[in-house]
Amino acid sequence: MRPPDIAYLTDIYFGFGSVAVVPQLLARFGVRRPLVVTDAGLMELGMVARLGIGNPAKFADTETNPTEANLRACLARYLEEGCDGIVALGGGASLDLAKLVGLMAGHPPPLEQYAILRGGMARIGPSIPPVVAVPSTAGSGSEVGRAALLKLDSGRKLGFLSPHLLPKAAVCDPDLTRSLPPGLTAATGMDAISHCIETYCSTRVNAVADAIALDGLGRGWRAIRRAHADGADREARVQMMHCSLMGGLAFQKSLGAVHSLSHPLGAIAGLRLHHGTLNALFLAPVLRFNQEACPEKMDGLARAMGLRAGAEVPEACERLVRDLGLPRRLRDLGVTKDDLSPLAPQAVEDHCTATNPRLLDEDAVRRLYAEAW
Ligand SMILES: [Fe+2]
Repeated sequence: MRPPDIAYLTDIYFGFGSVAVVPQLLARFGVRRPLVVTDAGLMELGMVARLGIGNPAKFADTETNPTEANLRACLARYLEEGCDGIVALGGGASLDLAKLVGLMAGHPPPLEQYAILRGGMARIGPSIPPVVAVPSTAGSGSEVGRAALLKLDSGRKLGFLSPHLLPKAAVCDPDLTRSLPPGLTAATGMDAISHCIETYCSTRVNAVADAIALDGLGRGWRAIRRAHADGADREARVQMMHCSLMGGLAFQKSLGAVHSLSHPLGAIAGLRLHHGTLNALFLAPVLRFNQEACPEKMDGLARAMGLRAGAEVPEACERLVRDLGLPRRLRDLGVTKDDLSPLAPQAVEDHCTATNPRLLDEDAVRRLYAEAW
């Protein structure tokens, strides 16, 4: 059966200090031995202690683009420690890894059979331990998303989708994002903004999600420069967290070409390309490409961004990426032309391609990659 057209299910705790609710949530879900899935940076900052759950089992080796080997190591920790639930603390990488560890804790291998492209949605059942998602970035929106991405042993970065992958609760505490350095504030923030833009332009009909996406975009658009310039700006951090959360709530109507182009690049070994950085770079070229296919949507974006007309949107995005000091060409990230050529078919096959407002075929992908290079 296909997923419902509109679905809102996750319990969300939002606001400064809301992280204090985590121990009560674990008690409510009957979790006695949680595994905290996080990354080395947050571990060093002592963020795990902020969860207030004593001495939990920890896995702090989440990679920038989590791999199947990463998942195996995390799952082994979960089983060795006799865990019965997961707290995902971090950016999209930790949140996605935690969701998939939950999946594999209750489902037989191999992992790949559960990927969207392998028809895996029907194979994912409710046998998944409770996951409490605590984002430390305002970006991925994964805390309220039904999807997770992972780079498989085969080298492909694939998406997994099921309502059962939704965290049981999301705890969005803007205070946790205040330690985020300017570069990551910008890159993760551009991921959130790209979600709002892409899901609004998606061809699927969901007016509820559209309204959320546009409001989230406006908040992110007005706040991102301030959050980047002054990480201690509480109001800007709140608005960025709203943008991220609202992007995540909206992208159940799927995304588009920005994400299709960016996913295969995240799988290139050795480069550790950041998802939000890639999205920022693809945003203007894709908006220019899509413009003629969805002129009314472009005007809708312009209104949310305080611009006069849809035609101004791509350039305004380009300006923002420049102002935030993010890379603007793939070559600046160490990507070579040879890296790109095998990726075009993967981008076309990506789970976000079908909902892009303009047909994205291999020719178009090659042109967009060349333009971004
Ligand atoms: Fe994204």
